[in-house]
Amino acid sequence: MKIITIVGARPQFIKAAAVTRAIQRYNKRCPSKQKLQEILVHTGQHYDYLMDKVFFEELELPTPDYQLGVGSGPHAQQTGMMLEGIERVLEKENPGMVIVYGDTNSTLAGALAAAKLNIPVAHVEAGLRSYNRTMPEEINRVLTDQLSTFLFCPTSQAVKNLAEEGIKPGRGRVVKKVGDVMYDSILYYSKIAEKKSTILKDLGLRSPQSAIGNLQYYLATLHRAENTDNSNRLKSILRALNEIGENTPVILPLHPRTKKMMGAYRLFPGSRRIRFIEPVSYLDMVTLEKNATAILTDSGGVQKEAYWFGIPCFTLREETEWVETVKSGWNVLVGIEPKKIVREIIHLGKRRLSQKGTGIFGDGKASEKIIQVLIRGSV
Ligand code: UD1
Ligand code: UDP
Repeated sequence: MKIITIVGARPQFIKAAAVTRAIQRYNKRCPSKQKLQEILVHTGQHYDYLMDKVFFEELELPTPDYQLGVGSGPHAQQTGMMLEGIERVLEKENPGMVIVYGDTNSTLAGALAAAKLNIPVAHVEAGLRSYNRTMPEEINRVLTDQLSTFLFCPTSQAVKNLAEEGIKPGRGRVVKKVGDVMYDSILYYSKIAEKKSTILKDLGLRSPQSAIGNLQYYLATLHRAENTDNSNRLKSILRALNEIGENTPVILPLHPRTKKMMGAYRLFPGSRRIRFIEPVSYLDMVTLEKNATAILTDSGGVQKEAYWFGIPCFTLREETEWVETVKSGWNVLVGIEPKKIVREIIHLGKRRLSQKGTGIFGDGKASEKIIQVLIRGSV
């Protein structure tokens, strides 16, 4: 079967890497007639070296067969250009299936273009909901799930969310909890990161004598439009980071959206408490996460990675799709108010962190399960 995989944004390279490796493993052990042919389409949503190519190199993803080069722009323009480009590829290649990941504009464009051509869509990370329709990601998720034939859910909660919207197995649909492909990736790549990443030394966070990180730091990431494209919210978060950075520095790999908006609002925190660095590669990010005192973030993927590494996480939002991490006590929704953020961080040591449940995000074999379902094509 010919499969087209659509990617475009940073987290999608990390998710697709797990499934692509599973396809390669499957192809090695099956007769040539049954092999899967994967064609990789990159929409070009992310394009800076540190948001794009570095992941293809580190994760050993194949070079995309098609690079649509859509780039940045307002939602309708960006999604519209992707739709046109993806449709052309689908008409030429006539695949048996299209795989899309997560909740970006590249996800929705891939799903919509395929569904209109009656090509079955497989949505990896289906069923996630924040129930906040002001987020572009929520719109992308809801619509992509509606358009999909195969809905691969990372958690049981995601399966429930879909059922509440009437999306259930049967009548031509497969809805299945397979686990989280990002968990597959973290298990595989964190071992490689241990050997290869030099980021702690590069940033002076580890003394030359020490085998493990020995200087304390908070790791922060920030890129959600609701936080960056609102000067009051962005200011408030930076103020909070500045306060908590008084005794323990904050390392902040800066997403280009955040950098752009800080420039637009003329926000240039002068103190040395927040250390702004360029976006880091995945192996470096995993290393920074694993050794952090705590993580502050509005990223979806980073909340889960904090949980998997057992690092307390403070989510700079009012709600999250990853409710399991909050229920477990490892993640707290702190919003954007400096007082609340500082208070939560001060009480970090007192937090009662529950045992992490097993199997909530699967067993690290989500990608294998996805391939098995796709091969059976069991609609
Ligand atoms: C997108 C996704 C978001 C995801 C995030 C992952 C949508 C609507 N949003 O947000 O769900 O969490 O990716 O990181 O799809 N830019 C650059 N260089 C790049 C990429 C972006 O400078 O390589 C700048 C541009 O100024 C651009 C801005 O970042 O306008 C935002 O990029 P965009 O892809 O529209 O959204 P993200 O914020 O990256
Ligand atoms: N990430 C990375 N370098 C960075 C910031 C994040 O490699 O500088 C990784 C992170 O470890 C996670 C993924 O990117 O695997 C999350 O992507 P992002 O936060 O951009 O998007 P989201 O998950 O919120 O959609």
